[in-house]
Amino acid sequence: MPCIRLLNMSLKKNINTEKLPRHIAIIMDGNGRWAKKQGKFRVFGHRNGVKTVKKIVEAAGEIGLEFITLYAFSKENWNRPYSEIDALMQLLVNAVNNELTKLNEQNVKLLTIGDISKLPVPVEEKLNYAKKLTENNTGLKLILALNYGGRSEIIKATKKISEQIKNNKINIDDINNDLFNKYLYTAEIPDPDLLIRTSGEYRISNFLLWQIAYSELYFTNKFWPDFDKEDFYKAIIDYQNRERRFGKTSEQIKK
Ligand code: FPP
Repeated sequence: MPCIRLLNMSLKKNINTEKLPRHIAIIMDGNGRWAKKQGKFRVFGHRNGVKTVKKIVEAAGEIGLEFITLYAFSKENWNRPYSEIDALMQLLVNAVNNELTKLNEQNVKLLTIGDISKLPVPVEEKLNYAKKLTENNTGLKLILALNYGGRSEIIKATKKISEQIKNNKINIDDINNDLFNKYLYTAEIPDPDLLIRTSGEYRISNFLLWQIAYSELYFTNKFWPDFDKEDFYKAIIDYQNRERRFGKTSEQIKK
């Protein structure tokens, strides 16, 4: 990688545009450790994490990706110190304020998954405003996972389906993958083809548990603030060199 950078070459040209993933989901991890390594407060890491968000969203738009989902705030993140939660919420509002015009011009459609009604009112309002403004855009779908947890999403779907059965709207036998999917936050969104996690942690952390059944997983040691467009391209190229078998044999796939 350093050689490529010295020669000012980009991996972007090595991406096979015929074989692009439709949907990339990212667990943006390592902001706190990145800051700590430099003797700074964790919030400094989050602030720099926002810079990476901008770069990666831009890269996703440039290569023509259809969907990108970013794990920005999990249900479990409420357990962090209040000051950090507050700073994260502030960063989110600022990011929307600063980037919305540009995102809209770039035809990006903003969506959220998770229960945003439990976020501070100004944050919820800002997000709803941004979603409304961009709702007719047809370019990249930028999905922010906020107050999101995979298990609670599955429980929520199960409760809604049970309610429908109780009210004789559907039969138990109607329950299958397609029906279940319709009750998830991601009803209109294809499953991620590729899931990236930064910071050298090999965990899923309650992210898109149902949806990643057949996603390709990619882990990098880079902390999120250090993750750049080239790292993103590298992950996509790695994905493109894999064989996705979905339970079939290699021979069946090659037919
Ligand atoms: C994980 O790093 C990161 C988060 C919990 C928050 C991610 C949020 C942002 C990048 C900023 C706001 C987002 C948008 C979309 C504008 P960590 O704090 O868990 O790092 P650590 O594991 O090193 O402690």
